[in-house]
Amino acid sequence: MEKGQLLYEGKAKRLYATDEQDILWVEYKDSATAFNGEKKAEIAGKGMLNNKITSLIFERLQGAGIASHFVKQLSDHEQLVRQVAIIPVEVVTRNIVAGSMAKRLGLEEGTVLKRPIVEFYYKDDALGDPIISEDHIEMLELASTEEVQELREKALKVNEVLIGFFKEVGVDLVDFKIEFGRDQEGRVLLADEISPDTCRLWDAKTKQKLDKDVFRRDLGNLTDAYELILAKLGGQHS
Ligand code: C5P
Repeated sequence: MEKGQLLYEGKAKRLYATDEQDILWVEYKDSATAFNGEKKAEIAGKGMLNNKITSLIFERLQGAGIASHFVKQLSDHEQLVRQVAIIPVEVVTRNIVAGSMAKRLGLEEGTVLKRPIVEFYYKDDALGDPIISEDHIEMLELASTEEVQELREKALKVNEVLIGFFKEVGVDLVDFKIEFGRDQEGRVLLADEISPDTCRLWDAKTKQKLDKDVFRRDLGNLTDAYELILAKLGGQHS
């Protein structure tokens, strides 16, 4: 397979066309950004770690019957994915209070929720990705009523499966953000990435943060945390 022209460059990834229709070549970058791009850094090895972790997680989710755009890992920092039209809604699922939920609702970080909470955010950098309701999604015509239901159900299913994977290796899945896209046939597929950039992961015993909060809050070495997650998931670091 040949890598084609650059189609899109985001904060963490570059997307290229390939010589195969509907298949895209994704390159994970070493850039780290937080607070809607206000905080930035280059962290050597981060792209490779996120590529490997996302590949492992998407493979395991596919094994659990959750379809995604993921095709295969190509190299340390590259993977192939099926082309989808991204639905501009970030779906956040939370098991434990942290981050914006703690701030918005005045709740204490670390409070375990009685049941998972699903939230939707409008994926729009200029607006700072505001939280939106299901009614807003329909009003803005981002997705149909049925699709919104599907996003919610899929997010809860991903949550159930990921909680299990992480629990096995002594990690609490606090919260995570996922994105979805529509394929050529209009099917809704899980897309983008699932990595410590997009999840909050705490050591179940020590509650040590093993995710992007290390960068957001200057809590130590980010690649050490991500390497630990990769090793726990059974991946190899080269
Ligand atoms: O900041 P907040 O608490 O709303 O984040 C919830 C979860 O979604 C966290 O795991 C965070 O890393 C992830 N997230 C993300 N991309 C965003 C916003 C949040 O991956 N643009």
